[in-house]
Amino acid sequence: PLRGPGSGSIPGTDFTPVAPNTEDAVVTAEGYEQGIVIRWGDPVVPGAPEFDFNNQTAAAQEQQFGYNNDFAELVPLDGSGRSNLLVVNHEYTTETHMFAGYDENNPTEEQVRIAWAAHGLSVVYVERENNGGLKVQPSRYNRRITLNTPFELRGPAAGSDHLKTSADPTGTKVLGTQNNCAGSLTPWGTILSGEENFNQYFANADSITDPTAKKRLARYGLKGATSTRKWEKFDKRWDLAQEPNEANRFGWIVEIDPHDPNSTPVKHTALGRFKHEGAAVKVAEDGRVVAYSGDDERFDYIYKFVSNGKMKSGKSAHARRHNMTLLDDGTLYVAKFTGNSPASEIDGTGKLPSDGAFDGTGEWIPLASGDKSFVPGFTAEEVYIFTRLAADAVGATKMDRPEDIQPNPVNGRIYCALTNNSNRGSTGNAAPDEANPRVGNKHGHVLEIDDDATGTKLRWNLLLVCGDPNDPSTFFGGFDKSRVSPISCPDNVAFDRHGNLWISTDGNALKSNDGLFAVPVDGPERGFVKQFLTVPNGAETCGPVVRDTLVTVCVQHPGELDGASADNPASHWPDGGNSQPRPSVVAVWRKDGGEIGRR
Ligand code: FEO
Ligand code: CA
Ligand code: CA
Ligand code: CA
Repeated sequence: PLRGPGSGSIPGTDFTPVAPNTEDAVVTAEGYEQGIVIRWGDPVVPGAPEFDFNNQTAAAQEQQFGYNNDFAELVPLDGSGRSNLLVVNHEYTTETHMFAGYDENNPTEEQVRIAWAAHGLSVVYVERENNGGLKVQPSRYNRRITLNTPFELRGPAAGSDHLKTSADPTGTKVLGTQNNCAGSLTPWGTILSGEENFNQYFANADSITDPTAKKRLARYGLKGATSTRKWEKFDKRWDLAQEPNEANRFGWIVEIDPHDPNSTPVKHTALGRFKHEGAAVKVAEDGRVVAYSGDDERFDYIYKFVSNGKMKSGKSAHARRHNMTLLDDGTLYVAKFTGNSPASEIDGTGKLPSDGAFDGTGEWIPLASGDKSFVPGFTAEEVYIFTRLAADAVGATKMDRPEDIQPNPVNGRIYCALTNNSNRGSTGNAAPDEANPRVGNKHGHVLEIDDDATGTKLRWNLLLVCGDPNDPSTFFGGFDKSRVSPISCPDNVAFDRHGNLWISTDGNALKSNDGLFAVPVDGPERGFVKQFLTVPNGAETCGPVVRDTLVTVCVQHPGELDGASADNPASHWPDGGNSQPRPSVVAVWRKDGGEIGRR
């Protein structure tokens, strides 16, 4: 094969791409091996029972790996790469897939309690095996965090009247976390995780009549009478008619210290409340930390938080305790993006403007800092708790569903996946703009930001406008489109040590399975997207981790296709035969043990 610039041999991305397919399997690039690390129901906590699909209990699920693994991170315990903590989000439950004969109108209390225990996060100690895979080991670190785990609400809105309930008159203690989507490893060794579509769990928003309260509920998608899962039958906290503030206690960024299994996880109110996809931290030159976060909704916003305090270096428990306070005190901003091409050149088709790029400048508009609000008509508390409404008031840019946003550790730029927005440009909705240039954006795009970390100015451009490269509305960083892999609905982003961008997809609208892709962002192969693996039918690819000789991905909701259920499964992955599909974490390594993406 050809070598040299443009040949596909950039370190980290030098592999033969996987062709689009609809296999009920994880399909990797040639020359790579794979192994299951952990599946829904596998034991986590010491003494946990083995999974038994037909005899599930809440007590067992509390000790076992939860459902629908999304974000994952490998937290190194030493420099060897052998010993790691695998931390995983369990985003949501699909009871029709979890229980045979499930009655949606009448779940049993045990089924509901299993679902509470199947949410949250898992921490498991894993060791690299000689064959290249990862093996879960019994360990004092192993922990389940569920909807029953006490969390501390911290930061400037903690203790607000809007956060008080009958079970917690202090407004500072919440049981559990839910719909944890993406996340990140902080530079101080903790995990950040985003509470995303929390609205779906709450019943009886329709019973609220106060106009201000109604407007707030509606802006967060809290609506209707009974909830889909009917949890309100077994705990009144899910019933807004009885506990109108419980929903205000979700929609936060949570921080977990995986090194201390007895630590109380934190919800950081200073980062605002919305459908947080996740959050990721960059350390500014002066030691302050900047956390970026997207609100995953059509026409919602990108935010950043800049701390007042500075990071203490080192991974000691003392440093970690200090650094875990950084996200409680600082300034919350929302992004406004301005294109540099005439609006008349943004015609909604994805055609590049005459300057050859979707690009421009932008600013971060301050919303609140500590007890001070910068938004007329909002107290600081209201900014933090009803952040979407505050951001509406300052004219932030409505984006095409901001998902994961992460700083590139090599070039320092920030990358955000905008997964799709079929309503862009439709009647009554925002028109295309240079940062969201396509009407009815089915395949999404990837935004690259050059940010003055602690400042308020930025420059941006679109690295990718996704889809089938034969579709003229697509853009692959200017690279030759005849050579790239099709990519649709980017969701999570990660980086290898060379600074190449890795993208996992959710909801591929090209009628093939979702996958994981690698793309150089600098040099002659910028935009050369290559598919590294694909996941089984109905699954989404999540939580990619890329290390020198190892890749892990979460395979979320295998078999989640229209009409499928535990009584009619659409996937038998990973166990094969007639088995039920199980969301699982997969490790991938090179057969010869060599570096990922290098030949
Ligand atoms: Fe849970 Fe935004 O994906
Ligand atoms: Ca331009
Ligand atoms: Ca996601
Ligand atoms: Ca998604």
